[in-house]
Amino acid sequence: MMKPQSLTFTVPDEASMLALGEQLMAYLRPPQLICLHGELGVGKTTLVRGILRALGWQGHVKSPTFTVVEPYDLGALQVYHLDLYRLTSADELEFIGIRDYFTQHSLIFVEWPSRALQCLPAADVNCYIDMQAHGREVRWLIKAH
Ligand SMILES: Nc1ncnc2c1ncn2[C@@H]1O[C@H](COP(=O)(O)OP(=O)(O)O)[C@@H](O)[C@H]1O
Ligand SMILES: [Mg+2]
Repeated sequence: MMKPQSLTFTVPDEASMLALGEQLMAYLRPPQLICLHGELGVGKTTLVRGILRALGWQGHVKSPTFTVVEPYDLGALQVYHLDLYRLTSADELEFIGIRDYFTQHSLIFVEWPSRALQCLPAADVNCYIDMQAHGREVRWLIKAH
């Protein structure tokens, strides 16, 4: 049982964005769908990169902008990182097998969820990232279950 919770962070630079991933691990409980909101270049992929590193992923974390999805097998945990920015139709999600991503052992991060909201279940976490004069503001909103 998770209570609704709202956390706000001021994140001055890229290194701090990566480090925030470690802090946010405490709030990640598979299975969860985490929707990431914010304009192009605001740091959504950077935050997911930080979370994946904190989860123990040692390889490269590339933006799924062109591939739509990048999967990460962390043994007991499956992470799927999606970017729907270039999605032309919601059918593409079915085509890449999105239904199979939702298991008891998965964390699913979605950039630009607004492109296919009708095809996604309600998010467990909504993360809003906003540009600031110096750095970014990150809001992490956990839904009640
Ligand atoms: N907190 C931050 N402050 C300043 N720059 C940041 C921050 N987080 C990420 N960046 C930079 O923003 C740029 C775009 O990040 P990216 O994660 O690709 O954005 P998005 O996935 O939202 O399009 C990168 O060059 C990254 O270094
Ligand atoms: Mg991105």
